[in-house]
Amino acid sequence: MHSLAKSTLFLLLLLAALSAHAQKFEGLATRPPLGWNSWNTFATNINEQLVKDMADLFVSSGLKDAGYEYIVLDDGWMAKERDASGNLIADPVKFPGGMKAVADYVHARGLKFGLYNCAGSKTCAGYPGSRGHEYQDARLYASWGVDFLKYDWCGAGKMNAEEAYTTMRDALYAAKRPMVFSICEWGDNQPWNWATPIGHLWRITGDIANCWNCEEGHGSWSSWGVLRILDMRKGIRKASGPGHWNDFDMMEVGNGMTVSEDRAHFALWSMMASPLIMGNDLRSASKQTLEILGNKEVIAVNQDSLGIQAMRYLDENGDLDVWAKPLSNGDWAICFLNRSETPYQLQFDWSKHRISEDITGRNLQFSDANYQVRDLFQHKNIGTTKVVLNAVVPVHDVIMLRLQKS
Ligand code: GLA
Repeated sequence: MHSLAKSTLFLLLLLAALSAHAQKFEGLATRPPLGWNSWNTFATNINEQLVKDMADLFVSSGLKDAGYEYIVLDDGWMAKERDASGNLIADPVKFPGGMKAVADYVHARGLKFGLYNCAGSKTCAGYPGSRGHEYQDARLYASWGVDFLKYDWCGAGKMNAEEAYTTMRDALYAAKRPMVFSICEWGDNQPWNWATPIGHLWRITGDIANCWNCEEGHGSWSSWGVLRILDMRKGIRKASGPGHWNDFDMMEVGNGMTVSEDRAHFALWSMMASPLIMGNDLRSASKQTLEILGNKEVIAVNQDSLGIQAMRYLDENGDLDVWAKPLSNGDWAICFLNRSETPYQLQFDWSKHRISEDITGRNLQFSDANYQVRDLFQHKNIGTTKVVLNAVVPVHDVIMLRLQKS
């Protein structure tokens, strides 16, 4: 063969090989995913009506309008055994119309649908896991119209996490339906070091508990309150960004903490650019809960296109934290968090502060510039950075601000 023809052929073969190369679906989570997941409130007590109710409530309560998109069924949606061909089956009692009908119902409301499985042979609640069935399961999810897969790590034994999650990523890619891939190995294998080419979000800790600052022991593992999760992983904020998010776990807003704690929890998850996945029963949610979850000004901070996870700028004796997050249009979000058991009298003289943020390289020097200060929970402008901010931060609460160049 002529050498030119040979090299053209080689190039074509190379291109074909490259385009067949499995990868994650890009462009699916350029902002942190917003949605709802069944686990925190319902555990395995889930069913078709629950999904339909949540989908309807997304629309009627304005949450869809505020940006929430994914409805995700966690553990417990399957029958206890695969069928004779090795296919997963939706539990016929909980989901009598099958899973495709459930996905169709969600899609008909302009929303997206997610499911859960696990890299081990069994899920954490003892249902059939995907080990050895990855490609078969991915094809099934694709045929049902699934848009999001949360993939857990129970029963993983000595499996290598990077390899196991890569296998499932490749299986999803081969099934040809774009799905957000949510890695859930609790931060045990430092996914922030390797998971960017594999998944769109990864849990950074063990499970959340419905409390402010507690550790709940469950024998071999613990679940963690809001402050525990906030504090657990230091130095990983650079790993998070558009398409690859540090996941602080599904929220407990509306599940029984005080309104202050719920507000702080929501503000912090937003500041951290964490996925905002609601974990409460929307059918019985109070007006206050819906106001917190539906706060568009706070959600805008979470969804900012730069996708920078906030940095802890100040830590005043463990009582007050000041968090700062640079935003895409030159604005900043600032969040004062009162961690203590007494109201915190804040007297913040902006002119004495300079915030340097290392991912963007931005410096916020208040002596040089004046910013409008907007309170994102009161929804009003409260002054400028030329005047000292005098305010009380209630116990376990936040004041969350947006600074806008004036
Ligand atoms: C693990 C996960 C949880 C939830 C349960 C389901 O604990 O971390 O988020 O999915 O499994 O069994």
